[in-house]
Amino acid sequence: QHRSPSDLSSSHSPTPQDSSPIIDLTDAPDLTEFYSRTSELTTLKQWILQDHTRLITIYGLSGIGKSLLTRQLIEQIKTEFDYMMWRSLSDRPTLSSLKNQLQQFFAQSQQPSLPTIIDYLRHSRCLVILDDLHNLFKSGELAGEYLTDYKEYRTFFRQIAKNHHQSCVILISWEKPRAIATLEAEKHSTRTLHLKGLSADAEKILRSHQLTDSDKWPELINLYQGHPTWLNIIASTIVELFDGSVSLFLSYSEDIFLGDLEPILESQLERLSDLEQRVISGFRDREAIALSQKPTNPELSQSELWSAIQSLVRRGLLEKISEGERGMFQLHPIWQQYLKFKLS
Ligand SMILES: Nc1ncnc2c1ncn2[C@@H]1O[C@H](COP(=O)(O)OP(=O)(O)O)[C@@H](O)[C@H]1O
Ligand SMILES: [Mg+2]
Repeated sequence: QHRSPSDLSSSHSPTPQDSSPIIDLTDAPDLTEFYSRTSELTTLKQWILQDHTRLITIYGLSGIGKSLLTRQLIEQIKTEFDYMMWRSLSDRPTLSSLKNQLQQFFAQSQQPSLPTIIDYLRHSRCLVILDDLHNLFKSGELAGEYLTDYKEYRTFFRQIAKNHHQSCVILISWEKPRAIATLEAEKHSTRTLHLKGLSADAEKILRSHQLTDSDKWPELINLYQGHPTWLNIIASTIVELFDGSVSLFLSYSEDIFLGDLEPILESQLERLSDLEQRVISGFRDREAIALSQKPTNPELSQSELWSAIQSLVRRGLLEKISEGERGMFQLHPIWQQYLKFKLS
């Protein structure tokens, strides 16, 4: 039922007036085996098709499935657009070079060309996906702050959210941009989706590795947060070491086994600011902390603690668990395990 990417690119049409859109998916991932994500797809389609949201951010941990979800999404809504472009920002293009590329893409079928990108977004129905946005953010500081040479992006995205047009820009990132939080607060046409692990469908990943003891699968999925990439890696380990027996794997490991996950976890934690590092290490051996709690580290002020927690939430590392009126925040056991291992 799904058309392959090559089918898509061959469906180029000379004008956007007929129903097949002009598509550039060179930077997009291939449509591989994809397990439902029905509710996320429904939400995104609602935001785009019904609410006409102009700027959408999808953020979440590396490998959680953001790009694949978006790839699946555009497969389902492509007939609604005249133009569709996917651009990865992992090579850190300056804003002017990105704008040039977009301009060229739109201009191939739109003559005479229009003066600005916003003009194209207004004139046609365009869907632009900007993936790997976190590459434009500073490392070692609070989450979602642009690198010095990339601050203009903030203004560009603000224009996209504020100006009237009939298009949609989707940002994909490890971290929720700080400036997006401000835009949301101002109630502009912007929405944010925090993508989390797979629920019941995570079992399909374990099935694809032909693991056994399916009664133990929910436990394994819970341990690894339903994170598709982590589960794929752990499933390979279970095949290598335990001939696919989930029971054996769970019974032998006292702590949560990290193995090949370490470098992946490392690459995300090394982006934390000093302040966040100090706060997160306080989570090493406890379940959750409350905002009302005084910082255990006497060198931390209350406001430093709150900024750090806010930033860790924007990275998808800490999760708010509702406990009545009090804000309680929790670090998932995988990260606790990683910290214990690193700090021991
Ligand atoms: N819904 C899904 N169904 C099956 N596999 C998935 C799903 N989402 C993610 N994956 C697996 O996880 C890998 C990473 O997903 P990806 O979308 O590239 O993550 P991200 O963009 O968040 O870093 C994919 O290559 C795929 O193997
Ligand atoms: Mg991705």
